[in-house]
Amino acid sequence: MALNLLRTKSIEQSLADTDEPEYQLKKSLTALDLTVFGIGVIIGAGIFTLTGRAAHNLAGPAVVLSFVVAAIGCGLAALCYAEFASTVPVSGSAYTFSYAALGEIFAWIIGWDLVLECFMASSVVAQGWSAYFTTFLDQLTGQPDGAHVLPEAIGYGGTIDLMAVLLVVVLGTLMIIGIKESMRVNLVLVSLKLFIVLFVIVAGIQFVKSSNWSPFIPPNGPQPLDMPQANSVMTQPLMQWLIGLEPSSYGLVGVFSGAALVFFAYIGFDIVATTAEEAKNPKRDLPIGIIASLIICTILYCAVSLVVTGMVSYEDITQSAALANAFAFHGKTWMAVIISAGAVAGLTTVVLTMLIGSTRIIFAMSRDNLLPVGLAKVHPKFRTPYIIGIIVTVICALVAGLTPVGVLEEMVNIGTLSAFVLVSISVIVLRHKRPDLQRPFRVPAVHVIGTLAAVVCFYLMLNLAVETWLRFLVWLVIGFIIYFAYSHSHSRVLTHKALHPDIVAQMDAGHLTPPENRG
Ligand code: ALA
Repeated sequence: MALNLLRTKSIEQSLADTDEPEYQLKKSLTALDLTVFGIGVIIGAGIFTLTGRAAHNLAGPAVVLSFVVAAIGCGLAALCYAEFASTVPVSGSAYTFSYAALGEIFAWIIGWDLVLECFMASSVVAQGWSAYFTTFLDQLTGQPDGAHVLPEAIGYGGTIDLMAVLLVVVLGTLMIIGIKESMRVNLVLVSLKLFIVLFVIVAGIQFVKSSNWSPFIPPNGPQPLDMPQANSVMTQPLMQWLIGLEPSSYGLVGVFSGAALVFFAYIGFDIVATTAEEAKNPKRDLPIGIIASLIICTILYCAVSLVVTGMVSYEDITQSAALANAFAFHGKTWMAVIISAGAVAGLTTVVLTMLIGSTRIIFAMSRDNLLPVGLAKVHPKFRTPYIIGIIVTVICALVAGLTPVGVLEEMVNIGTLSAFVLVSISVIVLRHKRPDLQRPFRVPAVHVIGTLAAVVCFYLMLNLAVETWLRFLVWLVIGFIIYFAYSHSHSRVLTHKALHPDIVAQMDAGHLTPPENRG
């Protein structure tokens, strides 16, 4: 049988698949709702934990420039996301969109990358949560420096990160029994997160010493020795390795490798795009929601990183709960307690959203029979795809419990960035293939913006560590094995099978409804 890797699934078919009468979502979200939702998903472990590590290991005070570079890449990709989300307002949309534009094998790669993004992000943010929870317990009980309430082996960074495992198991269970996250809960948590971030900025300014910003861009040199595997080829950005440089940090090189790392802090705006179906006026509100949440987060992130690197020299900054510890460093324990408590509450929703995101993508791929449809089996009582839910929870719990944290953010980034590259190309391709489609939002100068988005995101990928690339290649190889062993011959585009009853039951149960609109 000849392989047809580029067969496509038409936009019309994708829309029809979700067109069950029970699956008509209310078009009620305004630009403000979308912005709030975006900020809720975006602000998480990235700003609370990565700022310290990126400043200490890679960029120094110039980490603020890293945030700007990452924001530019995200902004360009965001415009492309806005176009396809308004054109194909279907859950799992990056995947669906590339199925129409580039063909099945690319759709598979995007779906597989998004699974990596959500899987890894839940685990990483769970570890960030655990770091802040540990700090919170220690501060609350007044532990002396270096002492911890939790035994080291089961605390953050120990042999097993028990708190991260427990969080994933509890949230995974809630997801399986059908927790309904509402816009109102989201609003409360977003306000709390914004308060904490603003608190860091306003309360931190008084402790800023301008000498900590000098030199603002430390000269390029060897990686700091307390960085895990410092100065090995494995932790070197791929770009440096390709052009034959020695592993190094800081300088302009450090700004870019810092940008590739803190890119993580912006991940989530792509999830706003999945709410396209419920936007009141997607043409206007969707791009506003995506771009406004990105701009607000960029301003906050730049301000926080300026303040934190001004409070503590980048050489002394802690690599885990950096924001809270910057205040502890100045003896302001009560402020550190407030920040830790806020982070613990705020990060919880990010983990939940990412867990739900994983199940939604696997579900969309099962709907197309690229993964076994049996996975989407619905629980008779809870009416949720409990098999996918259990698999996702168990894998995330294991990864969060047993893998060292530094590795994981970059894995999330490489998965997301590769999806962004493909999406940016898809937008241009689909303009040519289907000029007739209704596009409520169109990327201005699409050839320029789409190409720039793909180039900038790919450049950021090249700035990720060699070991991240190796792991990513292993992930892709596993994906290809599954695709050629199973998906290619079972795909619904090939077999034209009707939707499986379990999938229909699942849609009827409203499982694919975005979490903020359920209940
Ligand atoms: N942007 C999200 C975070 O920082 C993933 O946690």
